[in-house]
Amino acid sequence: MLANITGEHEGIFLHRSQQEPLLASGREHLAQLLGPTSQRTEALSRFEQYACDLWDGLAEIYDVAKIWFTVVEFIAQGINERPPSLVVRDNERLNNPDWFQLPEALGYVAYTDRFAGTLQGVTSHIDYLRELGVTYLHLMPLLRPRTGENDGGYAVADFRTVREDLGTIDDLAALADSLHQTHIALTLDVVLNHVADQHEWAIKAQSGQQKYRDYFHMFPDRNIPDTYEENLPEVFPDFAPGNFTWDEPSQSWIWTTFNSWQWDLNWANPDVFCEFVDIFAFLGNKGVDCFRLDALAFLWKRAGTSCQNQPEVHFITQALRAAMRIIAPAVIFQAEAIVAPTDLVAYLGVGEHAGKDSDLAYHNSLMVQVWSALASGDSRLLATALNASEAIPPTTSWATYLRCHDDIGWAIDDVDAQAMGLDAFEYRKYLSSYYAGELEGSQARGAHFQTDLSTGERRTSGSAASLAGIQAAVESSDTHLLTTAIDRLMCGYSMVLGYGGLPLIYMGDEIGLMNDDRYLQIPEHAADNRWLHRPMMPWPAVDQRRDSSTLAWQVFTRMLALISARKHLPALHAGIPCIVVATPNPAVVVFHRAHVDGDLIELYNVSDAAQTLPTSSTGPLAGHHVTEVLSNSVISLDTPTITLEPYSVWWLTAQLT
Ligand code: GLC
Repeated sequence: MLANITGEHEGIFLHRSQQEPLLASGREHLAQLLGPTSQRTEALSRFEQYACDLWDGLAEIYDVAKIWFTVVEFIAQGINERPPSLVVRDNERLNNPDWFQLPEALGYVAYTDRFAGTLQGVTSHIDYLRELGVTYLHLMPLLRPRTGENDGGYAVADFRTVREDLGTIDDLAALADSLHQTHIALTLDVVLNHVADQHEWAIKAQSGQQKYRDYFHMFPDRNIPDTYEENLPEVFPDFAPGNFTWDEPSQSWIWTTFNSWQWDLNWANPDVFCEFVDIFAFLGNKGVDCFRLDALAFLWKRAGTSCQNQPEVHFITQALRAAMRIIAPAVIFQAEAIVAPTDLVAYLGVGEHAGKDSDLAYHNSLMVQVWSALASGDSRLLATALNASEAIPPTTSWATYLRCHDDIGWAIDDVDAQAMGLDAFEYRKYLSSYYAGELEGSQARGAHFQTDLSTGERRTSGSAASLAGIQAAVESSDTHLLTTAIDRLMCGYSMVLGYGGLPLIYMGDEIGLMNDDRYLQIPEHAADNRWLHRPMMPWPAVDQRRDSSTLAWQVFTRMLALISARKHLPALHAGIPCIVVATPNPAVVVFHRAHVDGDLIELYNVSDAAQTLPTSSTGPLAGHHVTEVLSNSVISLDTPTITLEPYSVWWLTAQLT
């Protein structure tokens, strides 16, 4: 191991002439290790294709010559163990590499137990997912967590076993198979930054085994931790202050960025890298199509920095990605890096990492900007922030979303805010107060999550429906407020589906599910109000989607209309950039997506009043008869202005349907 804890490298670059023989002998080694798999030739040619990416990623971090053959051995084992049915899937994916970028692609995110009780239960709800048009299912953490508090499963005690009450690893493979038969891909979380204190690596480290102590960051005293702390933010200041935890049995301070029982892994140790190649191969060979790389931004620690978004994170991802491309080409990566807008694009690969980093990354900035525009009724900050974002490699995609299982951190960039004449700090405060329902005119029913005492900033919990005002309207039985709130929710979701990328529907949003405060009765959940927006799927309410007098029907039918319109719009392919067009009326957001088969112009009135806009804002469509695809009606854009009703959405295309 040459990279040390401070993250400084000690000159591990091999000259190309030294590297080439090792690449060639790596291929030889792989050829010897591969069993009589039908994929032998294909696997070897994939190795030839991706060995350099793997090597280059490893070489930035480790003494690559020392670990090269070990990594090749893990790869060989992964290939040898790949079931033939998944090899068929590999070939399908290789022929359709943009499967997750297509306008038909639609994600759904759910907790197994809260959605369907067990993994077998999920199988019995596949029809529901198909009805919605889902092609990508992210089941929230389901690997065996620690007992007691476990951060919603993000404290993993065993990466090869399923949480007992959800089923077995065979149930997981069977579910993946059933999903595949209905053209749904399966996504699973793999937490890279930490493991539970009850994971066998942690237990062995605790008992003093040096091999496993080296898997973690353990310090005998506070000297080094205190130096790091000077620059480290706190993720959970309320219930897990500080980034280090004293561990009595090992007499060490352990790096614990999140909770005290989530031990950060030491990625400067190549053994940790190899362990994860093995874990990915194991789960990939059970049929998992995509790994959501949890807490990716935190992997590399460097003194004097916030220990987030360090360049090494991208070399590690590149090496893991290359290894999986060789083992299981059907598998893709989704980065979970909820970071500042300026750091976000890097997770999809920029510069030397283009096309070699993750395939998908959450568009945290879009999510924040949509809620911000819906609060302020002003689209200018959204336009500034989104247009400032660097283009993503055309083979990758944003994962777009309105809500997820986590809180909303108000990631408004200081520079973007300044450009709009806003004080970023005050504006973030405004958003958290607005969504907690503390401001005049706000119908939101969110809750404050964590307060950073040094800055006074607060994040927000709450379901999409409750944040959009549906809960307040239902509680006050005000039908006008309810209509407006549903329109507001759908305006937000339309931007998520219309921006371009893989849209993720968070379980229950499709029927307007509201906050659920029953988490307060569960001792392990009570202190963490993110459980407010992690309800059980109320299947009787879901059944009401067929009854036009219900809220479920109103939201579900509109969601379905959006989803089915989306599928037929080539301009929504994720590889195409979205331009946010400046308009004279700041209450209207205009997205322009250009495509050879016809441009798509999307208009969103983000305010609760009717808004008039010059027709010229529809760019190339102005002056023409166009189709508004959501209502399937023809509109003449030959008048000087157009008027949009409160929160209304128009998706305009020149193509007549
Ligand atoms: C990710 C998860 C979050 C969890 C954290 C630590 O951010 O989304 O729920 O608390 O990682 O694993």
